Amino acid sequence: METLTVELGARSYPILIGDGLIRKIGEHVAPLLKRPRTMIVTDAHVADHYLIPLGTSLAMENISISSFVLEPGEGTKSWAGLARLTEWLIGEGVERGDHVIALGGGVIGDLVGFACSIVKRGCNFIQVPTTLLAQVDSSVGGKTAINVRAGKNLIGAFHQPAMVVIDPTTLETLPRRELGAGYAEVVKYGLIDDADFFAWCEANGAALLAGDSVARHKAIAHSVAAKARIVAADERETQDIRALLNLGHSFGHALEAETGYSDRLLHGEAVAAGMVLAHQFSAANGLCRTEDAMRVRDHLASLDLPHSLASAGVNIGGAELAAHMAHDKKVRGGKLPLILTRGIGQSFVTDKFGLDRVAAFLDGQRAA
Ligand code: NAD
Ligand code: GLY
Repeated sequence: METLTVELGARSYPILIGDGLIRKIGEHVAPLLKRPRTMIVTDAHVADHYLIPLGTSLAMENISISSFVLEPGEGTKSWAGLARLTEWLIGEGVERGDHVIALGGGVIGDLVGFACSIVKRGCNFIQVPTTLLAQVDSSVGGKTAINVRAGKNLIGAFHQPAMVVIDPTTLETLPRRELGAGYAEVVKYGLIDDADFFAWCEANGAALLAGDSVARHKAIAHSVAAKARIVAADERETQDIRALLNLGHSFGHALEAETGYSDRLLHGEAVAAGMVLAHQFSAANGLCRTEDAMRVRDHLASLDLPHSLASAGVNIGGAELAAHMAHDKKVRGGKLPLILTRGIGQSFVTDKFGLDRVAAFLDGQRAA
């Protein structure tokens, strides 16, 4: 087992990574608890595979448990989902000192984290992520949220977990398409500031997606260490450091909005195409070499990830796509900060480019 730490002073917490950890989780959770009681929240897909092993391990430490199983899917991260969950937690007698366990992907992690930030003015939670996206990104850093009619993740809070427990073997039951979507977030860490890691991805991405356990462990540990460093440096995204984690997200959000935040294009798939667009936009504006943008596109394309407007299933005008970007919650004073790049592993934040320039670029990509 490997242990990393998110260094946040009194709110620091460990990230445990190890094959089979779900079956041993009780021994790690028990020392945190003020009373031998915890509540597990999960979704129906994840419950089928992991609720019993996790519950059994807790029971072996004499921890009493109750569990709440929600419907899988983005729709659960909603006012209705939040109401059901918070009412259930209160009905279960949750106390401020308790630790609620979020067992699942980013949907469960974001919803449970937000519920725990408001129930009884805040209780503790433990992230047990079971998708690659959640293991390398959403379970670490304390961003929690639900979606509302006006957009995704618009109601939320920063609320750090007390511990993150990553069992990479859970990825063996994850559908291949979800694994690919999570892999885009792995590649993102190379593209932000780590050219060597991008080269490692080029050499090992296919093996990882085929189930190679050594590659899987390395990708998760490396990604999570990068995320922990970034969160420790800029927890609330006030210094243009954490914002780098949004590489590919502004273009990606436009694609997701256009495809209705649906199964037509998963979040990680939109990020994959968005990262290629961010590199191509950088190249088109003389910021980075065209060969770097092609390298990013070729790697993602080789793994069947969306790498263009067409492969993301989007065929509309640049102005319409740019209009989606104008609604991004990162807009400041009418300007959208973009994450662009000077080359592989050299990303930076800028608000120098207007959306008219982005629209013209996207028109060119549509025709390409
Ligand atoms: P998800 O939670 O919807 O999970 C994807 C699907 O896989 C679901 O059907 C789920 O039931 C199933 N599943 C999960 N683990 C499984 C397993 N081990 N075996 C079989 N099936 C399994 O999706 P996601 O991609 O994990 O998360 C997406 C969410 O994460 C979005 O809402 C996004 O906004 C959020 N997110 C949050 C952050 C953050 O920092 N908080 C970062 C990135 C994304
Ligand atoms: N996933 C973006 C962030 O945590 O900041």
